[in-house]
This record gives sequence, structure tokens and C-alpha cells, in this order.
Amino acid sequence: MKTLIVYYSLEGNTDYTATRIANRLGADKLRLRPVKEFTGTGLKKFFWGGKSAMMAEKPKLEDYDVNLAKYDRIIIGFPVWASNIAPPIRTFVEEHKAQLKRKQLAAFACQAGGGADKALQKLKAFIGIDAFELEAAFKDPKKKQSGETDKLIDGFCDILVKQDEIAEEELAQEWGTDLRGLRKYLTNWNYKKHVKLCAAIYVPLIAFDLTVSYFICKKIIDKLDEAER
Ligand SMILES: Cc1cc2nc3c(=O)[nH]c(=O)nc-3n(C[C@H](O)[C@H](O)[C@H](O)COP(=O)(O)O)c2cc1C
Repeated sequence: MKTLIVYYSLEGNTDYTATRIANRLGADKLRLRPVKEFTGTGLKKFFWGGKSAMMAEKPKLEDYDVNLAKYDRIIIGFPVWASNIAPPIRTFVEEHKAQLKRKQLAAFACQAGGGADKALQKLKAFIGIDAFELEAAFKDPKKKQSGETDKLIDGFCDILVKQDEIAEEELAQEWGTDLRGLRKYLTNWNYKKHVKLCAAIYVPLIAFDLTVSYFICKKIIDKLDEAER
């Protein structure tokens, strides 16, 4: 199961969480960075960031390089801002909504006190899905550095791993051990896979066709030569 964690982090808590999850799952990470980072301290930071989240703004992001087609699962991570999604996540979702909807999606939110439930709800509505395969909220994991929160994060990963094992078993039961690889290959069908499969079918067929037709032609020409002589 190839997994990508897409996240935004202003003060490091979401980054800490994403890194822990990535290490445990062997997943790739993509950290989103707005061109104009939210700055300021104290009330100023809360005011401008909170306003941007409440207005559902979509700030321009620094260029990033990602091929979502490579991944089966995407985990979205964000800090809760005014009980809402941190704005850079909105930009990313808007840019990839159609593709995201075809993936296995999980999400986690980092918060100081509360609001994660509402924010996760808003994220689902914005993507246009009813549920994530798994969602969780963690309290300032980096700032608090508590073993308890680390355990919760590890638990989040373990549930995903367990879900994968169950799905794998179901697939093996449905398709048999030999065919489950094919079933997996056919999941998340994309243009690249289509080209590869067509090439794998057509190239040997064309080669066979050319070889057979060569020998038939050769035989006919030899026969004509013989008849002429
Ligand atoms: C603009 C702003 C608004 C916030 N709003 C909330 C909130 O509504 N509820 C909450 O529990 N924490 C809120 N927080 C705190 C962060 O969600 C929390 O500290 C989070 O762990 C920070 O993640 P980060 O370090 O990855 O940026 C807010 C922080 C900022 C900067």
C-alpha cells in the first residue's frame, strides 16, 4: 500500500505527527507551504490565520512536485484553525479534488483544545465524501511531547495497517492468492498502466503476426519461383 501524507504545519506539531506516521508506515511526505506564510505572534497570528480559515481562503502554494497516481492512500494532516481546516489544505484539495476522491483517504488534525471534529467534517464536505477510512485528532503533539499522544499516533498507524491486512485477506478470498495481484494492479487504473498493459499484449502479438506472415510470404514466393523454373 503506497501512502502519501500531505500536510501543512505552521508551528511544527503537524510536521512532528506526519513524520512519526511516515516512519511507522514507510510513507512519503509532502509538506505544503504557502507562498506568503502566515506570520505574526500572539493575537495577531490567531486573528489573521483564523480569519483566513473562516473565510475559507485558498492561499497560493509554493511549487511542489507530486504524482498522486503513484499512491493508493493519501493521509491529509492539518492544524485546526478556528475549528476549520488550515487554508493551505483547502488550496491543495481544490487542485486535486477529482483524484483525491478516487483514493483511500485518511486524515488527522492537530489542535490545542477543540474544534477538530468540526474541521474534519468541513474537510469531508469540501472533498465531497461522507467519511474517511480513518480520522483522528491529536493535541499539540510536538509542544506537549507526551508519550500518551505518541501512543495515539502509533495507534492510528496500527489501525491502518490492520485495515490493510483485512483488505488483503478479503481480496485473497475473493480472487484467490494468484489473482489478487492482478486485482490490485487493476485498482486505481490510470493511463500509464493502460499503456503498459496494451504494450504487453500488442507487442508480442504483432511480433508473432509479423513472423508468421513472413514465413507464409516466403513460402508463397519460393513456390512461385519453383513454378517459373
Ligand atoms: C490561527 C490559529 C487558529 C487556531 N485555532 C484553533 C482552534 O480553533 N482550536 C484549537 O484547538 N486549536 C487552535 N489553534 C492551535 C493549533 O491548532 C494547534 O496548536 C496545532 O497543534 C498547531 O499545529 P502546527 O504546529 O502544525 O501548526 C489555532 C492556531 C492558530 C495559529
